[in-house]
Amino acid sequence: MGFVTSERASVGALYWGAFGEKLAAAFRDVETGARVVTAGLRADRMLVARFAGKVVGVCGYYQDGRGTADLSWRHLRGHLSRTASVRAVGVLSLLSRHGRPGVLVLDGICVNEAHRGHGIGSMLLDAAVELARERGDRAVQLSVIDTNPRAAALYRRRGFTTVDRGSLGPLQHLYGFEHYTTMRKKTDA
Ligand SMILES: CC(C)(COP(=O)(O)OP(=O)(O)OC[C@H]1O[C@@H](n2cnc3c(N)ncnc32)[C@H](O)[C@@H]1OP(=O)(O)O)[C@@H](O)C(=O)NCCC(=O)NCCS
Repeated sequence: MGFVTSERASVGALYWGAFGEKLAAAFRDVETGARVVTAGLRADRMLVARFAGKVVGVCGYYQDGRGTADLSWRHLRGHLSRTASVRAVGVLSLLSRHGRPGVLVLDGICVNEAHRGHGIGSMLLDAAVELARERGDRAVQLSVIDTNPRAAALYRRRGFTTVDRGSLGPLQHLYGFEHYTTMRKKTDA
């Protein structure tokens, strides 16, 4: 579980590559965003898939109210000016999900482009369900944006069902998507 220090850069590149577009509005430019998010990734909130010794997929999750990336005021201020930190906290607060007792909430699943379609994403989802079982959780939950129907199709095939839908309303232009769907899979299913 997790990644070692020497893997942080590749995990960061993978994570930012998949979710940078959504997070970019919080930062002055993509380089800054990638650097700050990569530095804040928590190895103990991530499942990692490797192939030939290299990281090819990751699946973040929340634990004790904290997600995969440390995007707290303290972390942001360590890398950004006060003004830039205020902006980042404001933009990111809307994207953060909160854990629920008894539910493992996922925080970003992605697979290296060159390795997609070979079952790695499915393996990571199975590992998340297994982790939830070990933790004694009754379900695994994730959110998928409306512009990503292929990912949603994968989740449905893996046994996730829709429990809620949300909308960012007028803020959609800031993040690049409007609606998102929350899906869940029971750990005893
Ligand atoms: C979604 C993702 C994690 C799946 O990983 P994977 O290893 O390709 O998954 P599997 O091989 O187990 O399953 C393949 C299925 O994943 C989905 N998928 C494949 N490529 C995808 C892509 N570029 N974007 C979204 N979903 C994709 C499809 O449902 C695919 O089945 P299909 O080929 O019959 O359409 C991976 O495609 C990815 O990292 N996508 C970009 C980031 C992303 O969209 N993350 C999900 C955020 S909710």
